[in-house]
Amino acid sequence: MAPLVQIAATLGLTLAGTFITVDAAAVERATGLKGLNSLAKAKGRYFGTAVDAIWQNTDTKYLKISGDFKEFGMITPENEMKWYATEPTRGQFNFTGGDYIVHWAHKNGQAVRGHNFVWHSQLPDWLNNGTWDKKTLLSIMNTHIGHLGGHYRGKLYCWDVVNEPFNDDGTWRSTIWHDIIGPEFIPLALKKAHEIDPKAKLYVNDYNARRFPSVEGLSVKSDAHYNLAKSLLKQHVPYHGFGIQGHLVVGQLPTTIPQNIARFAALGLEVAFTEVDIRMDLPDNAKNQTIQANDYKTVVNACVGSKACVGITVWETSDDYSWIPGVFPTQGDALLFDNDKNPKPAYYAVADALKAAKVHGHFNSWP
Ligand code: G3I
Repeated sequence: MAPLVQIAATLGLTLAGTFITVDAAAVERATGLKGLNSLAKAKGRYFGTAVDAIWQNTDTKYLKISGDFKEFGMITPENEMKWYATEPTRGQFNFTGGDYIVHWAHKNGQAVRGHNFVWHSQLPDWLNNGTWDKKTLLSIMNTHIGHLGGHYRGKLYCWDVVNEPFNDDGTWRSTIWHDIIGPEFIPLALKKAHEIDPKAKLYVNDYNARRFPSVEGLSVKSDAHYNLAKSLLKQHVPYHGFGIQGHLVVGQLPTTIPQNIARFAALGLEVAFTEVDIRMDLPDNAKNQTIQANDYKTVVNACVGSKACVGITVWETSDDYSWIPGVFPTQGDALLFDNDKNPKPAYYAVADALKAAKVHGHFNSWP
């Protein structure tokens, strides 16, 4: 093929005499993006991503994809709304990072998940190192939810009110919240969050650290969440959604994800996959990429198989931004775009699974 014709073919252009005409559909095929959120939206769901410190990011490809409503309709600030970032000194609040991301997302037409109010990790030193009695710690928790939730009132789709309250064996995790306030820190936090932002959907969000059992499927850990949910709803606590983080490992997905979603759905809760990534041993290879694509399809099918599942958020857009190599140095490549921001086989598997979805969800665009 002559070079010009070859380039034109690669770009999806057709040569007509001396003029080059652009075939829009062909150009779209050449760029290779399918619009994951558009596909999800057509089935009553969202597809989202998490971003971090984008004000200092000059990676234009990354920003373009992450801010494209056709790909991602929901944004989660990866760190900016956590306690260490928002109340670094007791009673002094900083919303700069969160504000930047919320403004950026809304400008792009994207909704935002608030992450998070009450967690044991990424707490500031003053809170970690203080000696608190129950009454004081409760007041600290309520003040934090009051200021942070009040600042974003009406601007977020939902909040992860409580993050990761259980150990993998289903027992309560030992945290300042549980150990000083007691298990009632959960209903108290949910009630405070509802009082401060009555329109936000309120979530409890969790992950599994070990391969099995996992909170994604049926396990003692997801049993603990199920029992917690039943008890909260029985007490008429404002609790709306179970967040399945979905930090998974290639080739090791639990088989009972649909059954797990179904039991939360039967309680009347909505469910969301909130932090999905499916990691593999590095270096990456074609075989593992294929297994990963199939695993992503399994996650999407689990969500689109239940109308209670409102959407899926991946925990970052491309592999070079993932938290995983920092924590598991021999693993990574867990996301849908590679380091060069090219869509991977997993991206196309997600698109295909969304397209094939038979059950219509109920997520309404926000804001
Ligand atoms: O902000 C500091 C910066 O000032 C400093 O120079 C730099 C040096 O290491 O560290 C920066 O802080 C890092 C922070 O992310 C912001 O980038 C921390 O070291 C790093 O540990 C922290 O990691 C985050 C992690 O949560 C903390 O537990 C990851 O980005 C974030 O993806 C991860 O997200 C969690 C979810 O919130 C909850 N579920 C699990 C998930 C994965 O761990």
